[in-house]
Amino acid sequence: MPHLLLGQVLYFSGNPLREGLETAHHIRRGAVLVEGGHIAAVGEADSLRATHPTAQIHDYGERLISAGFVDAHVHYPQTAIIASWGKRLIDWLNSYTFPEEMRFADPAHAAEIASSYFDLAIAHGTTTMCSYCTIHPESVEAFFAEAGRRGMRALGGKTCMDRNAPEGLRDTAQSAYDDSKALLQRWHGVDRLGYAITPRFAPTSTPEQLSALGALWAEHPDCLMQTHLSEQTDEIEWVKSLYPQARDYLDIYESHGLLGQNGVYGHAIHLEPRERARLLETGAALAHCPTSNTFIGSGLFDMDGLSRDGAVIGLATDTGGGSSFSMLRTMASAYEVAQLCHRPLHPAELWWLATQGSAEALRISDKVGNLAAGMEADLMVIDLASTDAIAQRHARADSFWEALFPTIMMGDDRAISDIWINGIRQR
Ligand code: GUN
Ligand code: ZN
Repeated sequence: MPHLLLGQVLYFSGNPLREGLETAHHIRRGAVLVEGGHIAAVGEADSLRATHPTAQIHDYGERLISAGFVDAHVHYPQTAIIASWGKRLIDWLNSYTFPEEMRFADPAHAAEIASSYFDLAIAHGTTTMCSYCTIHPESVEAFFAEAGRRGMRALGGKTCMDRNAPEGLRDTAQSAYDDSKALLQRWHGVDRLGYAITPRFAPTSTPEQLSALGALWAEHPDCLMQTHLSEQTDEIEWVKSLYPQARDYLDIYESHGLLGQNGVYGHAIHLEPRERARLLETGAALAHCPTSNTFIGSGLFDMDGLSRDGAVIGLATDTGGGSSFSMLRTMASAYEVAQLCHRPLHPAELWWLATQGSAEALRISDKVGNLAAGMEADLMVIDLASTDAIAQRHARADSFWEALFPTIMMGDDRAISDIWINGIRQR
C-alpha cells in the first residue's frame, strides 16, 4: 500500500552553492508519496491527498520531511574511540585508532561495533554512508552484512596498510589487492551496497601497494576509491619524506593510478595550487570533515574557494576523528569553519551539503539525498523544536530558514523524530 507522509517538505532542484538559493524548495504543507522502496511524488498535501485517496496517511504536522543524511566519510570501526582526548593526527592514530582497529580481527567484535554504529547513525538521521573498515576482511563482512540486513544504501571498503602500522594491522601489496578484489566481487552491487577501494593514506602504503590498488581500480572503474589527502601539516611533511620524488601529496595518488572522478579524498585542507587544479580538472570529490578538522586540530577547509571553483564537495562526520555521529552537528561545525573564513554558509547550502552534496560526492545523487519522484525512499522527519533551547528560538522565527537554523546549530538525535529506509518506517 502506498504511504503519504504529510508535513513541511524540503527538497532541491540544483546545487545552492553553485546555482543559487532558489534551487532549495520548501513546501509549507507538503507531502511525499512513498510506494515500495521509492518516492512516487512530492508536492502539496491537498493535491496529493486528492489524487491518492487510498494511501496510508502519516501526518507529521509541523515537522519537516527531508531526504536522510548522507555521510561521505566515516570510520565505523572508530565508533568506540570517539572523543579520545589530546592528540594530533599521527599520535591519535597510534594511541587510540590502531589499538582499537586491531580488535576487528575478531568477527564478533566487528559485528558488535557494526550493529552499534548503524544504530547510532540511523538515530542521528544518517541513512547512507561511505565507511572505511579495517585491514581485516571480517570488518568489511560485518559492515555490509549489517547494512544489507537493514536494507540500506551503503558504501565501504577494506582499509589497506602495509607499512607504518603495528604488527597485526598490516597487510601486503598482494593481500590488499586479493582481499579487496574478493570483497568487491562479493559485495559491490549486491542489494544497495557498493564497494570503495580504500588505501588508508600514502604514509601507510608502500608504492607497491598503491600501484596494486590503482590496478584494481582500473579493473573496476565503477567502484569508488577513497583515501585521505593533506589533512595536517606534519602529516604532509612526513608524506614528502616518504615519497621524495612526488611533486606533492596528490601526485603520489595520481602516479599510482589513484586519481579519478570516482575518487573521494578526505579532508583536502592544505592543498598546493597544482593539487587544487588537478582535483578540479578530474572532477574528483572532496569529503569535508569539519568536526574532525577542529577536534584533531587540522585546519580550515576552503569551502568558499573550492565551491566557487566548482569542486565536488560532500560533508562527512569522519567519526571517530570527528567528534559526533550527527550530520546536524557536522553542519554546525561546517558553518563555524566557514565563518572563520568569512563565508557564512546559508542553511540551504548546509542542508544540501549533508544530503545531495554528499550523495553527489559518492556518485549516487540520482538515487539518494533528495526528495523527488524516482529517488529511493530514505527519508527523515525532523522536529524543529526538539529541545527547550531550540524551541524558544524557533518560536521567534520569521521564515522557514530562520526556523531551521537553530536545529542545524543546536540539534542532535533528539531532532530526528522518524526515519524511513528503503520505503520502510523504522520506528
Ligand atoms: N588519516 C589516515 N587515517 C585516518 C583516520 O583514521 N582518521 C583521520 N581523521 N585521518 C586519517
Ligand atoms: Zn578519515
